[in-house]
Amino acid sequence: MNQVDYLRISLIDRCNFRCQYCMPEGAELDYILKQQLLTDEELLTLLEFVFIPVGLTRFRLTGGEPLLRPRVLELVGAIASLPQTQDLSMTTNGFLLAPMAQSLYNAGLRRINISLDSLDPDTFNQIIGNQGRGRWQQVWDGIQAAYQVGFNPLKLNVVVIPGVNDREILDLAALTIDKQWHVRFIEFMPIGNAHLFGDRGWIPSEEIRQRIRYRWGLTESQVCGNGPADVFQIPGAQGTLGFISQMSECFCDRCNRMRLSADGWLRPCLLNEAGQIDLKTALRNGISTAHLREQVRKLLEIKPEINFKQRDPGNTKGTYTRTMSQIGG
Ligand code: GTP
Ligand code: 5AD
Ligand code: SF4
Repeated sequence: MNQVDYLRISLIDRCNFRCQYCMPEGAELDYILKQQLLTDEELLTLLEFVFIPVGLTRFRLTGGEPLLRPRVLELVGAIASLPQTQDLSMTTNGFLLAPMAQSLYNAGLRRINISLDSLDPDTFNQIIGNQGRGRWQQVWDGIQAAYQVGFNPLKLNVVVIPGVNDREILDLAALTIDKQWHVRFIEFMPIGNAHLFGDRGWIPSEEIRQRIRYRWGLTESQVCGNGPADVFQIPGAQGTLGFISQMSECFCDRCNRMRLSADGWLRPCLLNEAGQIDLKTALRNGISTAHLREQVRKLLEIKPEINFKQRDPGNTKGTYTRTMSQIGG
């Protein structure tokens, strides 16, 4: 059985982008009210007295957009300084990153994954829901700032959308040649975006690898991470290429993670909420952390049976209504 030691913590469900695959236009989004968000203190209590004692010691901060969380620097600092924290990382859209990169690093964050779906400002703008053409440059500046500050590894996430950014696969892959950047191609998942997914579907990772192999060759490689990516490298390149292939090669069997939503629900799977625990309400009702620890231990025991394949049978392609921004990616 896999050791489950990785917790993805969503700090906020709001986002300053509206990526079409994540928060599709027309999707009814009920944002979590401020008073329903887990407070910093509640989160730290859960980490110290519930999650760490049951073996969850690698943390990734996600969103929505995690940099929108008020006092995010203080929170990063507090989590980084817990003696049992073995790994602390963040997944961000990079928009607010340039001026914050150094402070995040100083607070103890050491690795970061940034979404970069296109190198073309117009295509990028189309993907992020027409929020403004200038946003590409701001994200690019955020990536450069993170690189200069020394985040390592620095990973760039590309969700490959047929007919939208797949023509850029080679250009995006080429970013890894001269810089120690790690580009990951992610198969597009049908989550809360059925209309977009439509007939165009997704491109299998193997097809992407073939295009890259044909151009430069490709060898197997490695990079530090807790996620599901299969890692390769263009021969001689400084960085690596990761492939996250949840559509073509379900990786549920090697799942090592739990998820905490911004309003305090502990969930065992991206798409299957069986057994989820409302930790925030429990804490606010005065339930002891010892009791919560036991509940979480039990959920960890049954986790291997809770996965994407075994989710609610009525919940097939496109009928999943929660968006990725609400789940935390
Ligand atoms: P590291 O390997 O530690 O760098 O992180 P990661 O790849 O786990 O993190 P990131 O937030 O960058 O996630 C990359 C992609 O993997 C996103 O598209 C996620 O939605 C997807 N992903 C992460 N966890 C899961 C999961 O449990 N199931 C599925 N199906 N996809 C996931
Ligand atoms: N399919 C695949 N990846 C997605 N992400 C968001 N929505 C989807 C989807 N439908 C990715 C983002 C980000 C990460 C947290 O999840 O691009 O990199
Ligand atoms: Fe925001 Fe990330 Fe979703 Fe884009 S993918 S809308 S940046 S949470």
